[in-house]
Amino acid sequence: LAPRDPSKPPLVFHYVPVLGCAVSYGMDPLGFLEDCKAKYGPVFTYPLLGRRITAALGPLGSNFVLNGKLAHVNAEEAYTHLTTPVFGTEVVYDVPNHVLMEQKKFVKFGLTTDNFRRYVGLIRTEVRDYINKHVYLENTRKTGSGIDAFNTSSEITILTASATLQGSEVRAAMDKSFAQLYHDLDGGFTPLNFVFPNLPLPSYRRRDRAQLKMREFYVSILEKRRNSLDEPPLDMLTALQNQQYKTGEPLTDKQIAHIMIALLMAGQHTSAATGAWAILRLGENQDLQRRLYAEQFEHFYDADKGEWRDLEYETLQTPLLNAFIKELLRMHPPLHSLMRKIISDCPVPATVASPSAEPHASPEFKKRNEGVEYVVPKGEFVLAAPGYSQVDESIWGADAKNFRTERWLEGSKVPGEEDEGEEDYGWGKISKGGKSAYLPFGAGRHRCIGEQFAYVQLGVIIATLVRENSWTLDQAFPGNDYTTMIVMPAKPRNVTFTKREGVKA
Ligand code: HEM
Repeated sequence: LAPRDPSKPPLVFHYVPVLGCAVSYGMDPLGFLEDCKAKYGPVFTYPLLGRRITAALGPLGSNFVLNGKLAHVNAEEAYTHLTTPVFGTEVVYDVPNHVLMEQKKFVKFGLTTDNFRRYVGLIRTEVRDYINKHVYLENTRKTGSGIDAFNTSSEITILTASATLQGSEVRAAMDKSFAQLYHDLDGGFTPLNFVFPNLPLPSYRRRDRAQLKMREFYVSILEKRRNSLDEPPLDMLTALQNQQYKTGEPLTDKQIAHIMIALLMAGQHTSAATGAWAILRLGENQDLQRRLYAEQFEHFYDADKGEWRDLEYETLQTPLLNAFIKELLRMHPPLHSLMRKIISDCPVPATVASPSAEPHASPEFKKRNEGVEYVVPKGEFVLAAPGYSQVDESIWGADAKNFRTERWLEGSKVPGEEDEGEEDYGWGKISKGGKSAYLPFGAGRHRCIGEQFAYVQLGVIIATLVRENSWTLDQAFPGNDYTTMIVMPAKPRNVTFTKREGVKA
Protein backbone atom coordinates (compact mmCIF):
# COMPACT_ATOMS: atom_id res chain seq x y z
CA LEU A 1 0.00 0.00 0.00
CA ALA A 2 1.29 3.45 -0.91
CA PRO A 3 1.56 5.77 2.12
CA ARG A 4 -1.30 8.26 2.39
CA ASP A 5 -0.61 11.79 1.18
CA PRO A 6 -1.19 13.79 4.38
CA SER A 7 -2.36 16.81 2.43
CA LYS A 8 -5.32 14.82 1.01
CA PRO A 9 -8.39 13.78 2.97
CA PRO A 10 -8.42 10.10 3.99
CA LEU A 11 -9.58 7.79 1.20
CA VAL A 12 -12.42 5.38 2.01
CA PHE A 13 -11.44 1.75 1.51
CA HIS A 14 -13.10 0.12 -1.52
CA TYR A 15 -12.66 -3.11 -3.49
CA VAL A 16 -13.77 -2.31 -7.03
CA PRO A 17 -11.90 0.53 -8.76
CA VAL A 18 -14.57 2.08 -11.05
CA LEU A 19 -17.64 1.22 -9.03
CA GLY A 20 -15.93 2.51 -5.88
CA CYS A 21 -18.41 2.89 -3.05
CA ALA A 22 -21.46 3.03 -5.35
CA VAL A 23 -23.17 0.01 -3.84
CA SER A 24 -22.91 0.97 -0.18
CA TYR A 25 -23.54 4.66 -0.90
CA GLY A 26 -26.42 3.92 -3.27
CA MET A 27 -28.25 1.61 -0.88
CA ASP A 28 -28.06 3.81 2.21
CA PRO A 29 -26.18 7.09 1.65
CA LEU A 30 -26.64 8.50 5.14
CA GLY A 31 -25.67 5.21 6.79
CA PHE A 32 -22.59 5.09 4.55
CA LEU A 33 -21.60 8.65 5.50
CA GLU A 34 -22.12 7.89 9.19
CA ASP A 35 -19.92 4.77 9.05
CA CYS A 36 -17.20 6.66 7.19
CA LYS A 37 -17.27 9.51 9.67
CA ALA A 38 -16.75 7.05 12.52
CA LYS A 39 -13.67 5.65 10.71
CA TYR A 40 -12.17 8.70 9.04
CA GLY A 41 -13.55 11.87 10.68
CA PRO A 42 -15.92 14.39 9.12
CA VAL A 43 -13.91 14.91 5.91
CA PHE A 44 -13.05 11.95 3.68
CA THR A 45 -12.87 11.07 0.00
CA TYR A 46 -14.70 8.18 -1.65
CA PRO A 47 -14.65 7.07 -5.26
CA LEU A 48 -18.03 6.77 -6.94
CA LEU A 49 -18.48 5.60 -10.52
CA GLY A 50 -15.31 7.19 -11.78
CA ARG A 51 -15.66 10.38 -9.73
CA ARG A 52 -13.84 11.23 -6.52
CA ILE A 53 -16.07 12.84 -3.94
CA THR A 54 -14.95 14.48 -0.72
CA ALA A 55 -17.70 14.60 1.89
CA ALA A 56 -17.53 17.45 4.40
CA LEU A 57 -19.99 16.49 7.12
CA GLY A 58 -21.55 18.61 9.84
CA PRO A 59 -22.63 22.25 9.87
CA LEU A 60 -19.06 23.44 9.30
CA GLY A 61 -18.74 21.10 6.33
CA SER A 62 -22.00 22.42 4.85
CA ASN A 63 -20.73 25.94 5.26
CA PHE A 64 -17.44 25.03 3.59
CA VAL A 65 -19.22 23.57 0.53
CA LEU A 66 -22.28 25.80 0.19
CA ASN A 67 -20.62 29.10 0.99
CA GLY A 68 -17.35 28.22 -0.77
CA LYS A 69 -15.69 30.77 -3.01
CA LEU A 70 -16.69 30.80 -6.69
CA ALA A 71 -13.03 30.43 -7.57
CA HIS A 72 -13.05 27.01 -5.83
CA VAL A 73 -16.50 25.43 -5.94
CA ASN A 74 -18.82 25.27 -8.90
CA ALA A 75 -22.39 23.98 -9.06
CA GLU A 76 -22.94 24.14 -12.80
CA GLU A 77 -20.09 21.74 -13.53
CA ALA A 78 -21.54 19.30 -10.98
CA TYR A 79 -25.11 19.37 -12.31
CA THR A 80 -25.31 20.60 -15.90
CA HIS A 81 -25.00 17.22 -17.61
CA LEU A 82 -28.16 16.11 -15.76
CA THR A 83 -30.20 19.29 -15.82
CA THR A 84 -29.51 20.93 -19.18
CA PRO A 85 -31.03 18.12 -21.32
CA VAL A 86 -34.16 18.40 -19.13
CA PHE A 87 -34.50 22.15 -18.47
CA GLY A 88 -33.00 23.21 -21.80
CA THR A 89 -30.10 25.47 -22.71
CA GLU A 90 -29.26 29.07 -21.67
CA VAL A 91 -30.70 28.75 -18.16
CA VAL A 92 -29.74 27.63 -14.63
CA TYR A 93 -26.59 25.45 -14.87
CA ASP A 94 -26.07 26.00 -18.60
CA VAL A 95 -25.04 29.61 -17.91
CA PRO A 96 -22.28 31.20 -15.80
CA ASN A 97 -23.15 31.76 -12.16
CA HIS A 98 -23.76 35.50 -12.51
CA VAL A 99 -26.43 34.84 -15.16
CA LEU A 100 -28.15 32.28 -12.90
CA MET A 101 -28.17 34.86 -10.11
CA GLU A 102 -29.97 37.28 -12.47
CA GLN A 103 -32.42 34.58 -13.54
CA LYS A 104 -33.20 33.83 -9.88
CA LYS A 105 -33.93 37.51 -9.40
CA PHE A 106 -36.36 37.43 -12.35
CA VAL A 107 -38.18 34.45 -10.83
CA LYS A 108 -38.57 36.35 -7.55
CA PHE A 109 -40.75 38.86 -9.41
CA GLY A 110 -43.25 36.05 -9.96
CA LEU A 111 -43.18 34.97 -6.31
CA THR A 112 -44.94 37.95 -4.78
CA THR A 113 -47.17 38.06 -1.71
CA ASP A 114 -50.10 39.05 -3.93
CA ASN A 115 -49.58 35.93 -6.01
CA PHE A 116 -49.29 33.73 -2.90
CA ARG A 117 -52.60 35.16 -1.65
CA ARG A 118 -54.32 34.11 -4.88
CA TYR A 119 -52.66 30.72 -4.89
CA VAL A 120 -54.17 29.63 -1.56
CA GLY A 121 -57.72 29.37 -2.94
CA LEU A 122 -56.55 27.81 -6.22
CA ILE A 123 -54.57 25.11 -4.41
CA ARG A 124 -57.48 24.34 -2.08
CA THR A 125 -59.87 23.87 -5.00
CA GLU A 126 -57.47 21.55 -6.81
CA VAL A 127 -56.94 19.37 -3.72
CA ARG A 128 -60.68 19.03 -3.03
CA ASP A 129 -61.47 18.22 -6.64
CA TYR A 130 -58.72 15.65 -6.81
CA ILE A 131 -59.77 13.89 -3.63
CA ASN A 132 -63.43 13.88 -4.66
CA LYS A 133 -62.68 12.60 -8.15
CA HIS A 134 -59.99 10.04 -7.45
CA VAL A 135 -59.39 9.08 -3.86
CA TYR A 136 -62.85 7.99 -2.66
CA LEU A 137 -63.47 6.25 -5.96
CA GLU A 138 -60.23 4.36 -5.53
CA ASN A 139 -61.28 3.46 -2.00
CA THR A 140 -64.59 1.98 -3.11
CA ARG A 141 -62.91 0.09 -5.95
CA LYS A 142 -60.12 -1.20 -3.82
CA THR A 143 -59.70 -4.74 -2.71
CA GLY A 144 -58.06 -4.36 0.64
CA SER A 145 -55.41 -1.72 0.02
CA GLY A 146 -55.81 2.01 -0.26
CA ILE A 147 -54.14 4.65 -2.39
CA ASP A 148 -50.40 5.00 -2.98
CA ALA A 149 -49.34 8.03 -0.89
CA PHE A 150 -46.56 9.08 -3.26
CA ASN A 151 -48.57 8.78 -6.48
CA THR A 152 -51.41 10.72 -4.89
CA SER A 153 -49.08 13.43 -3.63
CA SER A 154 -47.33 13.66 -7.04
CA GLU A 155 -50.61 14.21 -8.85
CA ILE A 156 -51.83 16.77 -6.34
CA THR A 157 -48.47 18.56 -6.52
CA ILE A 158 -48.39 18.89 -10.30
CA LEU A 159 -52.04 19.96 -10.48
CA THR A 160 -51.59 22.61 -7.79
CA ALA A 161 -48.28 23.88 -9.22
CA SER A 162 -49.74 24.15 -12.70
CA ALA A 163 -52.89 25.91 -11.47
CA THR A 164 -50.69 28.52 -9.74
CA LEU A 165 -47.04 29.02 -10.71
CA GLN A 166 -47.28 27.59 -14.19
CA GLY A 167 -50.37 29.48 -15.33
CA SER A 168 -53.90 28.63 -16.46
CA GLU A 169 -52.87 27.47 -19.94
CA VAL A 170 -50.57 24.82 -18.47
CA ARG A 171 -53.28 23.74 -16.02
CA ALA A 172 -55.76 23.36 -18.87
CA ALA A 173 -53.29 21.26 -20.87
CA MET A 174 -52.48 19.09 -17.85
CA ASP A 175 -55.59 17.00 -18.48
CA LYS A 176 -54.39 16.42 -22.04
CA SER A 177 -50.99 16.33 -23.70
CA PHE A 178 -48.89 18.11 -21.07
CA ALA A 179 -49.05 15.29 -18.53
CA GLN A 180 -47.47 12.84 -21.01
CA LEU A 181 -44.77 15.36 -21.95
CA TYR A 182 -44.00 15.86 -18.29
CA HIS A 183 -43.81 12.13 -17.78
CA ASP A 184 -41.34 11.65 -20.67
CA LEU A 185 -39.19 14.55 -19.58
CA ASP A 186 -39.16 13.32 -16.02
CA GLY A 187 -37.90 9.96 -17.29
CA GLY A 188 -34.66 11.84 -18.05
CA PHE A 189 -34.19 12.92 -14.47
CA THR A 190 -32.83 9.72 -12.94
CA PRO A 191 -29.55 8.54 -11.37
CA LEU A 192 -28.78 6.76 -14.68
CA ASN A 193 -28.96 10.12 -16.48
CA PHE A 194 -26.74 11.60 -13.79
CA VAL A 195 -24.02 9.04 -14.45
CA PHE A 196 -24.52 8.75 -18.23
CA PRO A 197 -25.92 12.01 -19.66
CA ASN A 198 -26.39 10.51 -23.11
CA LEU A 199 -27.05 6.92 -24.05
CA PRO A 200 -28.71 5.53 -27.21
CA LEU A 201 -31.78 4.41 -25.25
CA PRO A 202 -35.50 5.09 -25.95
CA SER A 203 -35.94 6.94 -22.62
CA TYR A 204 -33.20 9.42 -23.64
CA ARG A 205 -34.85 9.98 -27.01
CA ARG A 206 -38.23 10.50 -25.30
CA ARG A 207 -36.57 12.99 -22.92
CA ASP A 208 -35.15 15.02 -25.81
CA ARG A 209 -38.40 14.99 -27.79
CA ALA A 210 -40.42 16.01 -24.74
CA GLN A 211 -38.00 18.84 -23.93
CA LEU A 212 -38.44 20.31 -27.39
CA LYS A 213 -42.22 19.92 -27.38
CA MET A 214 -42.55 21.42 -23.95
CA ARG A 215 -40.48 24.43 -24.95
CA GLU A 216 -42.69 24.90 -28.02
CA PHE A 217 -45.76 24.71 -25.82
CA TYR A 218 -44.57 27.51 -23.49
CA VAL A 219 -43.42 29.62 -26.44
CA SER A 220 -46.85 29.28 -28.05
CA ILE A 221 -48.49 30.50 -24.82
CA LEU A 222 -46.17 33.52 -24.77
CA GLU A 223 -46.99 34.33 -28.40
CA LYS A 224 -50.74 34.00 -27.82
CA ARG A 225 -50.56 36.24 -24.81
CA ARG A 226 -48.56 38.81 -26.74
CA ASN A 227 -51.14 38.88 -29.52
CA SER A 228 -54.09 39.05 -27.17
CA LEU A 229 -55.90 42.28 -26.36
CA ASP A 230 -56.71 41.01 -22.85
CA GLU A 231 -54.79 42.20 -19.83
CA PRO A 232 -52.04 39.56 -19.19
CA PRO A 233 -52.63 37.48 -16.05
CA LEU A 234 -50.48 38.28 -13.02
CA ASP A 235 -48.39 35.13 -12.97
CA MET A 236 -44.84 33.83 -13.41
CA LEU A 237 -44.91 33.90 -17.23
CA THR A 238 -45.94 37.55 -17.26
CA ALA A 239 -43.35 38.38 -14.59
CA LEU A 240 -40.60 36.78 -16.69
CA GLN A 241 -41.75 38.55 -19.86
CA ASN A 242 -41.18 41.87 -18.12
CA GLN A 243 -37.57 41.26 -17.05
CA GLN A 244 -34.30 42.26 -18.62
CA TYR A 245 -30.67 41.42 -17.89
CA LYS A 246 -28.23 44.07 -16.66
CA THR A 247 -27.05 44.31 -20.28
CA GLY A 248 -30.51 45.60 -21.24
CA GLU A 249 -31.38 42.38 -23.11
CA PRO A 250 -34.83 40.92 -22.35
CA LEU A 251 -35.25 37.21 -21.65
CA THR A 252 -35.95 35.37 -24.90
CA ASP A 253 -39.08 33.23 -25.18
CA LYS A 254 -36.86 30.17 -25.28
CA GLN A 255 -35.17 31.17 -22.02
CA ILE A 256 -38.54 31.87 -20.38
CA ALA A 257 -39.78 28.45 -21.50
CA HIS A 258 -36.68 26.78 -20.08
CA ILE A 259 -36.94 28.64 -16.77
CA MET A 260 -40.58 27.49 -16.49
CA ILE A 261 -39.50 23.89 -17.09
CA ALA A 262 -36.75 24.26 -14.47
CA LEU A 263 -39.27 25.57 -11.93
CA LEU A 264 -41.66 22.76 -12.73
CA MET A 265 -39.01 20.08 -12.23
CA ALA A 266 -37.31 21.68 -9.21
CA GLY A 267 -40.59 22.00 -7.33
CA GLN A 268 -42.27 18.80 -8.39
CA HIS A 269 -40.17 16.01 -6.89
CA THR A 270 -39.21 17.91 -3.78
CA SER A 271 -42.76 18.95 -2.84
CA ALA A 272 -44.35 15.68 -3.98
CA ALA A 273 -42.00 13.64 -1.79
CA THR A 274 -42.59 15.94 1.20
CA GLY A 275 -46.37 15.71 0.68
CA ALA A 276 -46.14 11.91 0.55
CA TRP A 277 -44.17 11.81 3.81
CA ALA A 278 -46.80 14.12 5.34
CA ILE A 279 -49.61 11.72 4.40
CA LEU A 280 -47.65 8.75 5.70
CA ARG A 281 -46.55 10.37 8.97
CA LEU A 282 -50.14 11.41 9.71
CA GLY A 283 -51.37 7.93 8.82
CA GLU A 284 -48.86 6.56 11.31
CA ASN A 285 -49.64 9.07 14.06
CA GLN A 286 -53.40 9.32 14.59
CA ASP A 287 -52.97 11.61 17.57
CA LEU A 288 -51.03 14.15 15.50
CA GLN A 289 -53.68 13.92 12.78
CA ARG A 290 -56.42 14.63 15.36
CA ARG A 291 -54.47 17.55 16.80
CA LEU A 292 -53.91 19.07 13.36
CA TYR A 293 -57.63 18.78 12.69
CA ALA A 294 -58.39 20.38 16.09
CA GLU A 295 -56.01 23.22 15.22
CA GLN A 296 -57.85 23.82 11.93
CA PHE A 297 -61.14 23.76 13.82
CA GLU A 298 -59.91 26.21 16.43
CA HIS A 299 -58.48 28.69 13.91
CA PHE A 300 -60.85 28.42 10.97
CA TYR A 301 -64.25 27.10 12.00
CA ASP A 302 -66.88 29.78 12.40
CA ALA A 303 -69.29 28.22 14.90
CA ASP A 304 -71.85 31.07 14.59
CA LYS A 305 -72.20 30.59 10.86
CA GLY A 306 -71.62 26.85 11.06
CA GLU A 307 -69.00 26.89 8.30
CA TRP A 308 -65.26 26.84 7.68
CA ARG A 309 -63.56 30.15 7.02
CA ASP A 310 -61.41 30.27 3.90
CA LEU A 311 -57.73 29.56 4.29
CA GLU A 312 -55.67 32.69 3.81
CA TYR A 313 -52.01 33.24 3.09
CA GLU A 314 -51.45 35.38 6.19
CA THR A 315 -53.01 32.92 8.67
CA LEU A 316 -52.23 29.64 6.93
CA GLN A 317 -49.14 28.69 8.94
CA THR A 318 -50.77 27.77 12.25
CA PRO A 319 -48.20 26.68 14.89
CA LEU A 320 -48.67 22.90 14.78
CA LEU A 321 -48.98 22.77 10.98
CA ASN A 322 -45.84 24.86 10.58
CA ALA A 323 -43.93 22.71 13.09
CA PHE A 324 -45.10 19.57 11.28
CA ILE A 325 -43.77 20.79 7.92
CA LYS A 326 -40.46 21.76 9.53
CA GLU A 327 -40.12 18.32 11.10
CA LEU A 328 -40.99 16.65 7.78
CA LEU A 329 -38.15 18.55 6.12
CA ARG A 330 -35.76 17.70 8.97
CA MET A 331 -36.42 13.96 8.89
CA HIS A 332 -37.21 13.61 5.18
CA PRO A 333 -35.28 16.28 3.28
CA PRO A 334 -35.83 15.47 -0.41
CA LEU A 335 -32.21 16.46 -1.17
CA HIS A 336 -30.05 15.02 1.59
CA SER A 337 -26.74 15.91 -0.09
CA LEU A 338 -25.58 18.71 -2.37
CA MET A 339 -22.57 18.63 -4.66
CA ARG A 340 -20.08 21.04 -6.17
CA LYS A 341 -17.13 20.50 -8.50
CA ILE A 342 -13.74 21.77 -7.40
CA ILE A 343 -12.38 24.01 -10.15
CA SER A 344 -9.12 25.02 -8.47
CA ASP A 345 -7.27 23.20 -5.67
CA CYS A 346 -9.31 23.93 -2.57
CA PRO A 347 -8.00 23.93 1.01
CA VAL A 348 -10.26 22.41 3.68
CA PRO A 349 -9.63 24.22 6.99
CA ALA A 350 -8.73 22.03 9.98
CA THR A 351 -11.77 23.32 11.82
CA VAL A 352 -13.93 21.60 9.23
CA ALA A 353 -11.84 18.45 8.93
CA SER A 354 -11.04 17.52 12.53
CA PRO A 355 -13.37 15.03 14.21
CA SER A 356 -13.41 17.12 17.36
CA ALA A 357 -14.40 20.16 15.31
CA GLU A 358 -17.96 18.86 15.33
CA PRO A 359 -20.45 20.13 16.10
CA HIS A 360 -18.83 23.31 17.43
CA ALA A 361 -15.13 23.72 17.84
CA SER A 362 -14.06 26.08 20.62
CA PRO A 363 -12.25 29.27 19.58
CA GLU A 364 -9.06 27.91 21.25
CA PHE A 365 -9.28 24.75 19.19
CA LYS A 366 -9.77 26.73 16.01
CA LYS A 367 -6.75 28.87 16.80
CA ARG A 368 -4.55 25.89 17.63
CA ASN A 369 -5.40 24.19 14.36
CA GLU A 370 -5.08 27.19 12.16
CA GLY A 371 -3.01 26.44 9.09
CA VAL A 372 -3.43 22.65 9.22
CA GLU A 373 -5.51 21.66 6.26
CA TYR A 374 -6.28 19.17 3.54
CA VAL A 375 -6.48 20.11 -0.09
CA VAL A 376 -9.18 18.81 -2.45
CA PRO A 377 -7.64 18.84 -5.92
CA LYS A 378 -9.15 20.45 -8.98
CA GLY A 379 -11.45 18.11 -10.89
CA GLU A 380 -12.80 16.31 -7.82
CA PHE A 381 -16.18 16.93 -6.15
CA VAL A 382 -17.21 18.06 -2.68
CA LEU A 383 -20.41 17.05 -0.97
CA ALA A 384 -22.36 18.73 1.83
CA ALA A 385 -24.89 16.53 3.58
CA PRO A 386 -27.51 18.63 5.39
CA GLY A 387 -29.63 15.47 5.60
CA TYR A 388 -26.90 13.94 7.74
CA SER A 389 -26.57 16.92 10.12
CA GLN A 390 -30.35 17.11 10.50
CA VAL A 391 -30.48 13.75 12.29
CA ASP A 392 -27.06 13.84 13.97
CA GLU A 393 -27.43 12.84 17.63
CA SER A 394 -24.33 14.78 18.64
CA ILE A 395 -26.16 17.92 17.53
CA TRP A 396 -29.88 17.30 18.13
CA GLY A 397 -29.68 14.97 21.12
CA ALA A 398 -30.71 11.37 21.72
CA ASP A 399 -34.06 11.68 19.94
CA ALA A 400 -32.51 13.08 16.74
CA LYS A 401 -33.77 10.19 14.63
CA ASN A 402 -37.33 10.28 16.04
CA PHE A 403 -40.07 12.16 14.24
CA ARG A 404 -41.18 14.64 16.90
CA THR A 405 -43.14 17.67 15.70
CA GLU A 406 -43.18 19.14 19.22
CA ARG A 407 -39.46 19.94 19.11
CA TRP A 408 -40.34 22.97 17.00
CA LEU A 409 -42.94 24.18 19.50
CA GLU A 410 -40.58 24.10 22.45
CA GLY A 411 -38.99 27.40 21.55
CA SER A 412 -35.47 26.07 21.18
CA LYS A 413 -33.40 27.32 18.27
CA VAL A 414 -31.98 25.10 15.57
CA PRO A 415 -28.73 23.76 17.03
CA GLY A 416 -25.76 25.38 15.34
CA GLU A 417 -27.80 28.24 13.94
CA GLU A 418 -25.70 31.29 14.36
CA ASP A 419 -26.55 34.70 13.11
CA GLU A 420 -23.95 35.17 10.41
CA GLY A 421 -25.69 38.07 8.81
CA GLU A 422 -27.02 38.31 5.32
CA GLU A 423 -25.47 38.25 1.90
CA ASP A 424 -26.82 39.71 -1.30
CA TYR A 425 -26.27 37.37 -4.22
CA GLY A 426 -28.09 39.65 -6.64
CA TRP A 427 -31.48 37.89 -6.29
CA GLY A 428 -32.27 39.10 -2.79
CA LYS A 429 -30.66 39.44 0.59
CA ILE A 430 -30.68 36.10 2.30
CA SER A 431 -29.36 34.78 5.59
CA LYS A 432 -26.03 33.04 4.96
CA GLY A 433 -27.13 30.30 7.34
CA GLY A 434 -24.29 28.07 6.23
CA LYS A 435 -23.35 26.79 9.66
CA SER A 436 -26.85 25.71 10.54
CA ALA A 437 -27.62 22.04 11.27
CA TYR A 438 -30.96 22.54 9.52
CA LEU A 439 -30.67 23.29 5.80
CA PRO A 440 -33.46 21.53 3.87
CA PHE A 441 -33.41 24.37 1.33
CA GLY A 442 -29.62 24.63 1.10
CA ALA A 443 -27.57 27.76 1.77
CA GLY A 444 -25.61 30.43 -0.03
CA ARG A 445 -25.93 31.56 -3.62
CA HIS A 446 -27.62 28.34 -4.75
CA ARG A 447 -30.15 28.33 -1.94
CA CYS A 448 -33.68 27.37 -2.93
CA ILE A 449 -35.89 30.07 -4.32
CA GLY A 450 -39.10 28.07 -3.90
CA GLU A 451 -39.22 27.75 -0.10
CA GLN A 452 -42.13 30.16 0.42
CA PHE A 453 -44.09 28.65 -2.43
CA ALA A 454 -43.44 25.15 -1.07
CA TYR A 455 -44.72 26.20 2.38
CA VAL A 456 -47.90 27.65 0.84
CA GLN A 457 -48.44 24.60 -1.33
CA LEU A 458 -47.75 22.03 1.40
CA GLY A 459 -49.62 24.04 4.03
CA VAL A 460 -52.81 24.26 1.97
CA ILE A 461 -52.60 20.63 0.84
CA ILE A 462 -52.14 19.29 4.38
CA ALA A 463 -54.75 21.62 5.91
CA THR A 464 -57.33 20.66 3.26
CA LEU A 465 -56.66 16.93 3.59
CA VAL A 466 -56.92 17.05 7.38
CA ARG A 467 -60.09 19.16 7.46
CA GLU A 468 -62.03 16.87 5.21
CA ASN A 469 -60.61 13.40 5.75
CA SER A 470 -59.07 11.01 8.18
CA TRP A 471 -56.79 8.22 7.07
CA THR A 472 -54.76 5.25 8.26
CA LEU A 473 -51.62 3.48 7.10
CA ASP A 474 -52.23 0.17 5.35
CA GLN A 475 -48.84 -1.26 6.33
CA ALA A 476 -45.90 -0.46 8.61
CA PHE A 477 -44.29 2.95 8.10
CA PRO A 478 -42.15 2.69 4.93
CA GLY A 479 -38.39 3.06 4.74
CA ASN A 480 -36.45 5.26 2.31
CA ASP A 481 -36.11 4.57 -1.39
CA TYR A 482 -32.78 6.05 -2.53
CA THR A 483 -32.93 4.80 -6.12
CA THR A 484 -34.41 8.03 -7.52
CA MET A 485 -32.94 11.54 -7.53
CA ILE A 486 -34.74 12.45 -4.33
CA VAL A 487 -35.52 10.40 -1.23
CA MET A 488 -38.94 8.81 -1.58
CA PRO A 489 -40.93 6.48 0.64
CA ALA A 490 -40.34 2.85 -0.38
CA LYS A 491 -43.26 0.75 -1.60
CA PRO A 492 -45.73 -0.32 -0.28
CA ARG A 493 -46.78 3.13 0.96
CA ASN A 494 -50.55 2.92 0.95
CA VAL A 495 -53.13 4.72 3.05
CA THR A 496 -56.91 4.46 3.24
CA PHE A 497 -58.88 7.70 3.29
CA THR A 498 -62.27 8.21 4.92
CA LYS A 499 -64.28 11.36 4.35
CA ARG A 500 -65.05 13.18 7.60
CA GLU A 501 -68.77 13.32 8.17
CA GLY A 502 -69.96 16.58 9.73
CA VAL A 503 -67.73 19.00 11.59
CA LYS A 504 -66.71 18.51 15.18
CA ALA A 505 -64.09 19.84 17.54
C1 HEM B 1 -32.43 25.01 -5.01
C2 HEM B 1 -34.73 22.13 -1.80
C3 HEM B 1 -39.01 23.43 -3.72
C4 HEM B 1 -36.71 25.96 -7.13
C5 HEM B 1 -32.69 24.12 -3.97
C6 HEM B 1 -31.68 23.55 -3.10
C7 HEM B 1 -32.33 22.75 -2.21
C8 HEM B 1 -33.75 22.80 -2.51
C9 HEM B 1 -31.68 21.93 -1.10
C10 HEM B 1 -30.18 23.83 -3.17
C11 HEM B 1 -29.48 23.02 -4.22
C12 HEM B 1 -27.98 23.11 -4.16
O1 HEM B 1 -27.43 23.93 -3.42
O2 HEM B 1 -27.29 22.34 -4.87
C13 HEM B 1 -36.09 22.25 -2.04
C14 HEM B 1 -37.12 21.64 -1.23
C15 HEM B 1 -38.33 22.01 -1.76
C16 HEM B 1 -38.04 22.86 -2.91
C17 HEM B 1 -36.87 20.78 0.00
C18 HEM B 1 -39.74 21.68 -1.34
C19 HEM B 1 -40.09 21.09 -0.23
C20 HEM B 1 -38.75 24.24 -4.78
C21 HEM B 1 -39.77 24.89 -5.59
C22 HEM B 1 -39.12 25.59 -6.57
C23 HEM B 1 -37.70 25.39 -6.35
C24 HEM B 1 -41.27 24.79 -5.35
C25 HEM B 1 -39.69 26.44 -7.65
C26 HEM B 1 -40.70 27.24 -7.49
C27 HEM B 1 -35.36 25.93 -6.83
C28 HEM B 1 -34.36 26.68 -7.57
C29 HEM B 1 -33.13 26.42 -6.94
C30 HEM B 1 -33.41 25.50 -5.85
C31 HEM B 1 -34.61 27.57 -8.79
C32 HEM B 1 -31.82 27.12 -7.23
C33 HEM B 1 -30.76 26.34 -7.82
C34 HEM B 1 -29.45 27.09 -7.78
O3 HEM B 1 -29.36 28.30 -7.52
O4 HEM B 1 -28.46 26.40 -8.05
N1 HEM B 1 -33.94 23.64 -3.59
N2 HEM B 1 -36.68 22.96 -3.05
N3 HEM B 1 -37.51 24.58 -5.27
N4 HEM B 1 -34.75 25.24 -5.81
FE1 HEM B 1 -35.72 24.19 -4.40
